[in-house]
Amino acid sequence: MNRPRVHVTRPIAEEAQSRLRAEAEVTTGPSDQESTRRELLELVRPCEGLLVVGHPKVDGELMDAAPRLRMIANFGVGVDHIDVAAATKRGIWVSNTAGSLTETTAELAWALILAATRRVTEGDRLVRAGRWKGFGPFFFLGTELPGKTLGIVGAGRIGQSVARRAAAFGMRSVYWSRRPKKEFEASTGAGHRDLDALLKESDIVVLTVSLTAETRHLMGARQLGLMKPTAFLVNIARGPVVDEAALARALLDRTIAGAGLDVYEKEPEVHPDLLRCENAVLVPHIGSATVETRRRMSLLAVENCLAGVQGRMPALVLNPETQRGLNRE
Ligand code: 8YV
Repeated sequence: MNRPRVHVTRPIAEEAQSRLRAEAEVTTGPSDQESTRRELLELVRPCEGLLVVGHPKVDGELMDAAPRLRMIANFGVGVDHIDVAAATKRGIWVSNTAGSLTETTAELAWALILAATRRVTEGDRLVRAGRWKGFGPFFFLGTELPGKTLGIVGAGRIGQSVARRAAAFGMRSVYWSRRPKKEFEASTGAGHRDLDALLKESDIVVLTVSLTAETRHLMGARQLGLMKPTAFLVNIARGPVVDEAALARALLDRTIAGAGLDVYEKEPEVHPDLLRCENAVLVPHIGSATVETRRRMSLLAVENCLAGVQGRMPALVLNPETQRGLNRE
């Protein structure tokens, strides 16, 4: 039997790459940057499988450039860069690595919460710039967490994991999701709210929703305006969930107290006004970036990919309704 061909858009953990090479002919994109669109269109042409690392646009045009494509395995959970409906129409399975990065990403949410409320990165900049003049009773005051309210926007795996840690910081939680989640409420004591009520009530708002047409600019000027002037916004979801210009305005005008951001509207670009905000902690999309998690993601993505190119439905398939082989060579 012919070995399937798979293109991996960026190198992943070697252990996973060699597992893939044992069963498939593998090409791998560059380690230091994404392939250009034109290069990617060429690279996928002969492939049955595509393992997507990073966020290149995977749309109908790309799928049509690869008439034998049967499987798109995403390295990561969010698939807003992949047109899943276009894949389904063409008989292509799409998978993600759900469950591989939950705790790591929740930890980063807390890193951002603590860094923003205790002004950690602002303090680091001050010390390095030689501007620290010593102790002062009112010097560099932050905000404490006990007794405060954490508002989780989106109660999927990551949102629930962020909420589970709230009790350790003496915080109570409220959450917004399309449907109330009774088990989650029972285990954490989190109360369901509509979005406006959550924004008015919370001291820390953490965004964990996936990016869809409904969640694009979910946090605009009006929603930011509902937050308390002492509240903080943390975004570990996707940049376009927030209107970045409106957020920069709110931070500069101090209508909210601060923000912690892992994601941006046009990565790797960051809105120039956000760069001017001393009260924003900015990190470069590192939610899942730990050695342990990236290894798990690599192995899971490879298992999904191999299953798909070998004709078995991958464990973490997102479009199980796909009729295999539809309109394919
Ligand atoms: C990855 C992510 O860094 O899983 C996600 O949705 O945003 C991150 O874990 C990204 O998907 C890289 O492929």
